[in-house]
Amino acid sequence: MTTIQWEEAAPGVWRSTIGHPQTLSPLAFMGAEPRREQLRTMPHSEVPGLMDNIGAERLPCGGYMLELPLEEQEKLYGTGLQFMRMNQRGKTRYMRVNSDPKQDTGETHAPVPFYASDKGYGLLVDTSHIVTMFLGSTMKQEHTRTEDVRDRNRDKGWRATLPSSRIEIKLPAEGAHLYLFGGPALADVICRYNLYCGGGALPPRWGLGFWHRVPTLYRDEEVMEEALEFRRREFPCDVIGLEPGWHSRSYPVTYEWDGERFPQPEAFIREMKENGFRINLWEHPYVAPEGELYEKLSSLSGNYSVWGGLAPDYVMPEARTHYMKQHEKRHVALGVSGYKHDECDGSELTNNSWMFPAHARFPSGLNGETVRQLYGLMFQKMGDELFRKANRRTYGLVRASNAAASPMPYVLYSDLYDHKQFIRALCNASFSGLLWTPEVRRAQNAEDWIRRMQTVCFSPLAMLNAWGDGTKPWSFPEAEPVIRHYIQLRMRLLPYLYTAFAQYRETGLPPFRAMPLVMSEEERAAAEKRHAMKEVSVLNTTDAAYGRSAVNAWDDQYMVGDDLLIAPLVAGESERKVLLPSGSWLELETGERHEGRAVVQVRPGLERLPIYVREGAVIPMMPALSHVPASGEKVPLTFVHFGSKPGQCLIYDDDGESFDYESGNCKWRKVVVEMREDGSFQGELEDGNTPFHSYSGVQWQLGQTVLAKD
Ligand code: GAL
Repeated sequence: MTTIQWEEAAPGVWRSTIGHPQTLSPLAFMGAEPRREQLRTMPHSEVPGLMDNIGAERLPCGGYMLELPLEEQEKLYGTGLQFMRMNQRGKTRYMRVNSDPKQDTGETHAPVPFYASDKGYGLLVDTSHIVTMFLGSTMKQEHTRTEDVRDRNRDKGWRATLPSSRIEIKLPAEGAHLYLFGGPALADVICRYNLYCGGGALPPRWGLGFWHRVPTLYRDEEVMEEALEFRRREFPCDVIGLEPGWHSRSYPVTYEWDGERFPQPEAFIREMKENGFRINLWEHPYVAPEGELYEKLSSLSGNYSVWGGLAPDYVMPEARTHYMKQHEKRHVALGVSGYKHDECDGSELTNNSWMFPAHARFPSGLNGETVRQLYGLMFQKMGDELFRKANRRTYGLVRASNAAASPMPYVLYSDLYDHKQFIRALCNASFSGLLWTPEVRRAQNAEDWIRRMQTVCFSPLAMLNAWGDGTKPWSFPEAEPVIRHYIQLRMRLLPYLYTAFAQYRETGLPPFRAMPLVMSEEERAAAEKRHAMKEVSVLNTTDAAYGRSAVNAWDDQYMVGDDLLIAPLVAGESERKVLLPSGSWLELETGERHEGRAVVQVRPGLERLPIYVREGAVIPMMPALSHVPASGEKVPLTFVHFGSKPGQCLIYDDDGESFDYESGNCKWRKVVVEMREDGSFQGELEDGNTPFHSYSGVQWQLGQTVLAKD
């Protein structure tokens, strides 16, 4: 093993070159532009002790092995969109893009070769090759201690994986750049990673409204009819998604409108817009022979087809130009708001295998393996650029991703459907610069329906995907009022949500945050100890590091922004434990008060999603409109202050739709709530008289113990 040499790449970020990096990497392909100014403002961070202990070795079979030390209680987070666990310590992560991540191998729609340690550092292997991360799951013979070798039949302490004090990373390539991100806190590591990739995504405001995807073969009038039903029933809705049936042919696709179902797409899109709906189009990468793009792209594609269609090589600038020109003319110019880039991941399920093989050859010189690793990024980059050219922001869906995706306005989704896994994925996405939607499609019963809808309303993209099931938010009549309530609550919280995303863009701190980004290990341990949770036994440290089942991983609750904590339930549960960080907390809609740095047991009814607001928080809110107002249409803004402590917040505002904020056309304003001598509260807005772009006037609700009805 040779010790790796590091050089500072940006404040708190170090870079090293292993061997000869040859293949296009995610950072290079995405053209990541580090936010150096922002990185400079972060707390000082050093990882010198660690640097001296990172080694690399050229393997006789080709490629490299990297080695890093692990402390006994160290926990490791990230590695992309993982569904099965939060702490990856003790696991081997095979980081391949795969649309069927049904087993805990590390394969997923968005494997990101980046992990962050709670010891305050993170490591990115910037490669489009499939790395394998052995996160404390290997034991060299020379390190094996005989006393750790137990008898499986007689010794309950037997473990398949012996506790290991090293991380090994196998890089099957001639080289790569490595990046080390400093802390000191875990959240700082994540912020640095996101800022180095270019900062977080800022969606258009309408993207944060409710989304509904209609069944595949709907025609224009059916789409309009279903959309208007949202208005009649007073369910807010901003985006209608069209599934494969809008194409003249799909699987493979033409990217052209079906003349029968959508004879006048431009008029249809205009009419939808007049009613406050944006249109999002489903598509996948594989180009149908009868499509106008086929001929142009055939020499710019791989040598294997998928579903009979071309698999274009969008590393080639010419291929990107053809795709973008066609999309600009046929969709963007007509008013389409964005895309759902499906099936850029690939599957090898026995009964359904589709994707070009790893040995496929592409004109750029990449092979099938690396194109598959980068395919999701290619569509995100093209989608973003397409709308950037028109100075319109987009927000869309994508089914595959990789490193360097944090600035991309795209949200991941899956055909998997386990509600608990969906919540865990929401948490885990926050460690890897990803956004995830726990989309709702169908339910076994009204309870399942309500619980899933409650979760999705507090996620980066609130969507019902009815493409195959034909469901509507009101599909379970008895659940209709509860679902309406949560979709409306999301709309009321829009100014708060939008500000949380703006904070993501500026500071790299994710809008939706897993608990380890909010609470230190010590704080969590103290909270658990205080709870009368006898069943959470005092933990064996090795078990704790390995995330064994005796330990509550708290991968079922998360923060939205700085002040709201969401603790969803899934069907079949009537109570749950909630881990509350320091401070005092109020249940948003019942006013129930809890002291923090504690675990509380709650029993909300089915109609209630437990949402906790921090005492002293000031939450900017607006009315539950039918859809998000267009740029320049002003609505009243209310600052709701909770509890009996003074507090403050920031509110972000811009035109909500264009990229003008990048040239400074935006405003952060500070809001302060102080206590007067007589104990009453007074709220003040910095630059009180400056008008907002999006809000007409400001109202105050101070010292609230519970959120008032709209
Ligand atoms: C799947 C996708 C679904 C739906 C379907 C349409 O790949 O995950 O959400 O879009 O394709 O065929």
